[in-house]
Amino acid sequence: MSKVAVLGYGTVGSGVVHVLTENSSIITEKAGEPVEVARVLDLRDFPGDPVSDVLTHDFSDIENDGDIDVVVETMGGTKPAYDFVKRCLLAGKSVCTSNKALVAAHGTELIRIASEKGVHFFFEASVGGGIPILRPLNRCIVADEILSICGILNGTTNFILTKMADEGSDYGEVLKEAQSLGYAEADPTADVEGHDTCRKIAILTALAYGAQVDYEDIKTEGISGITKEDIEYAVKSGRKIRLLGMSRKENGRLYALVAPFMIGPSNPLYSVDGVFNAITVTGNMLGDVMFYGQGAGKEATASAVVTDIVEAVKNRDIPVTIRWDEKKQEIAPADSMKNHFFLRVGAAEKDKLRSLGDGESISAPDGCDGEVGFITDIMTETELNEKLEGFHDIRKVIRVL
Ligand code: HSE
Repeated sequence: MSKVAVLGYGTVGSGVVHVLTENSSIITEKAGEPVEVARVLDLRDFPGDPVSDVLTHDFSDIENDGDIDVVVETMGGTKPAYDFVKRCLLAGKSVCTSNKALVAAHGTELIRIASEKGVHFFFEASVGGGIPILRPLNRCIVADEILSICGILNGTTNFILTKMADEGSDYGEVLKEAQSLGYAEADPTADVEGHDTCRKIAILTALAYGAQVDYEDIKTEGISGITKEDIEYAVKSGRKIRLLGMSRKENGRLYALVAPFMIGPSNPLYSVDGVFNAITVTGNMLGDVMFYGQGAGKEATASAVVTDIVEAVKNRDIPVTIRWDEKKQEIAPADSMKNHFFLRVGAAEKDKLRSLGDGESISAPDGCDGEVGFITDIMTETELNEKLEGFHDIRKVIRVL
């Protein structure tokens, strides 16, 4: 019998208890022994909820309970999650978390402590919700040099961008709906400004290349500046706007970026709508593989956490190596990364657009009179900015993949 404690009985934490209860016989079979929720830590009370029997408001009840061998951290944020997780690992307990902020900020140290204590620190649910992506990167795609990772990593923003395009809905209205469905972070700024995606691509990049990535080194732009008109231009050109997190090797340098991109139907991420996430990984031998599924939501995310619990129980006395060296990887400046760019410029600038290559013109949608849309040839951001120096009326720039 394995005894599990859950730190934080919110959306994901309650999902973990639900999955463990609902699928208990399958989980017992896969883990090789029953898995019981022995303690739940939360500041709140839950009268009438079955967990009220095992509820505590005192973390030391968990830290000092020698029978608890796996702790699930679903509190979110780093305070007090970092302190609690570290203390659990130091107390010889494995930890499974869905908390990308924690992993991106302290993953290096927590992985090292877990390894020194002979326990596990697993975080599959921290990226892509229910999609198995971290374990495949760490344990399956091991014969390749990874050339690139590119993903739709945030369900809330994908939900917003999809609804804005499909229904012409208002940004704020759709955001509220995403929040009520439990997709958004407590403070949705982290979703819409790309911070959530930034932490996820930092984790993916660390695992892909086997060394720490400082998420603060990743240039991050969100979707709050994307308008209905930008989306109409994308639709007119047969494209969609998606918030992407990407890292790629170019000329021996490692780039990473989070930004809204226009993507066309030949890109596998084009068909990823709503709250779904997808990640494409390109290996030098493997070519492209894509992982697709629910990137947010209670049960999907909880399913990934429970998979980690099963792995921790099954491998109780077996080390599982996570390649994540302490030496930080250098991220090259994003302005030397090559992309196409979509521009909206005033009609008076039309003749100057020739300096940006043969490109593709997009006629202005209704409501955008007096301007033109154009997609440039491939170039770096530095080159683009140099070429745009003579322009006086630039209304929007969005990268194009
Ligand atoms: N707020 C996140 C999202 C939750 O919308 O994808 C999953 O990390």
